[in-house]
Amino acid sequence: MSTNGAPRPGRRAAVVVGLRTPFVKSGGDFADLSAVDLGAALVNELVARGGIPPEEYDAVVFGQVIPSPLVSLIAREVVLRTQLPRDVEAHTVSRACATSIQAATDAADQIALGHADVVLAGGAESLSDAPIFASRPLAQAIVNASRAKTVVDKVKAFAGLSANDLAPQPPALKEPTTGLTMGESAERMAQQNGIRRDAQDAFALQSHRRAAEAWRSGKFAGEVMHVPIPPRYDRISSRDNVVREDTTIEALAQLRPVFDRRYGTITAGNSSPLTDGAAAIVLTSEEKASALGLRPLGFVRAYAYAALDPSDQLLQGPAYAAPVALQRAGLRLADMDLVDMHEAFAAQVLSNLQAFASKRFAEERLGRAEPLGEIDPAKLNVNGGSIALGHPFAATGARMILQTLRELGRRKGAHALLTVCAAGALGAALVLDGPDVAP
Ligand SMILES: CC(C)(COP(=O)(O)OP(=O)(O)OC[C@H]1O[C@@H](n2cnc3c(N)ncnc32)[C@H](O)[C@@H]1OP(=O)(O)O)[C@@H](O)C(=O)NCCC(=O)NCCS
Repeated sequence: MSTNGAPRPGRRAAVVVGLRTPFVKSGGDFADLSAVDLGAALVNELVARGGIPPEEYDAVVFGQVIPSPLVSLIAREVVLRTQLPRDVEAHTVSRACATSIQAATDAADQIALGHADVVLAGGAESLSDAPIFASRPLAQAIVNASRAKTVVDKVKAFAGLSANDLAPQPPALKEPTTGLTMGESAERMAQQNGIRRDAQDAFALQSHRRAAEAWRSGKFAGEVMHVPIPPRYDRISSRDNVVREDTTIEALAQLRPVFDRRYGTITAGNSSPLTDGAAAIVLTSEEKASALGLRPLGFVRAYAYAALDPSDQLLQGPAYAAPVALQRAGLRLADMDLVDMHEAFAAQVLSNLQAFASKRFAEERLGRAEPLGEIDPAKLNVNGGSIALGHPFAATGARMILQTLRELGRRKGAHALLTVCAAGALGAALVLDGPDVAP
């Protein structure tokens, strides 16, 4: 892996505006909305609110992790369903849970290269609308029947199917190479790293408390739009419905482990839930931002992606990507005013924090003499994370960028580090600068 620490070439990309929908538990208020519906509603509202004339947009980079077979190119579909002009080019990205980090860094690269001045980047996910597949034998029978010339041959195509073959197959959140679900992989990490159940529950409680406080104090009002709920559109979704103001450590301690029922530590309470939602940001060149009279929320300073063997610690990518991103930024962990680490599971966050601080991990895994260091809890996920807010896979990265830059602005901070673990044992890390940091 390159550990290139050279300064970022090209023009600086500013993040000028962003927005998200409420994040809603799957199967609930957004059950009748597909990812493209959510994405289009969000982008329409963002363009309307953003202060940038639609004709100024050059491109859209948008993602969805579990795509619908009927909408293979969500980014372009979002353009075509909104007020954006039809000549705005678009491409779809996927990097599992880091999808809209990828969308944002693609957009920043286009701006750095001078290929675009204004790019919208984001993602949408509807796990309520996840595709349901036919079993392989049933799918083959349907194809054979469609090719058959006579009614008898069409009927014959289905002969030999068992009752099991007729059962619908939901998409698996399984790692194809290991056969383990994300939760089972996180459970393995908890066991390997000695992450105790009470520490996981305490972390989950903090996530809920901080997210609830952020809602209470009005911090999220400016970054979350309202969504009318179909089919009657007589109710409005205006807040995340996963956040529990009333969660207690006792209630969390009573929940049963879900991925290893006998010896496990991971529960519904210390995991991110299956969620529907969309989030996006708009990036511009600095020159364009000032020409449009927009004050940036902040800037993309550096980023890195990393990967490890999925049969190792699947969700430890952040501990590999963060040192490279910081080196490329020319900064240390101690320079960060905020750190936002995606919370797939409390066990995954705590495992990564352990690796960040471990000299042994630095020496043996990264070939570095010193560890990155400890993260001050007062700077980590200060307004809650995916455990409390929910995790619509493709939307989480854009949610994190927007939430972190707005908080950095409130604190008049200079730098923030974001990290995301992702399926395939990928890790993403992004270093952001506040609006007053000189290039
Ligand atoms: C963990 C998981 C299986 C739980 O799903 P679920 O059973 O539908 O979860 P629920 O929301 O119904 O919660 C189960 C119970 O825990 C309770 N609960 C959940 N969070 C709680 C909290 N913070 N405090 C108190 N109780 C809580 C619920 O009230 C519910 O109780 P009930 O059964 O009495 O109604 C599911 O959220 C999941 O798969 N998450 C992981 C997603 C994933 O893999 N993401 C990828 C990350 S990379």
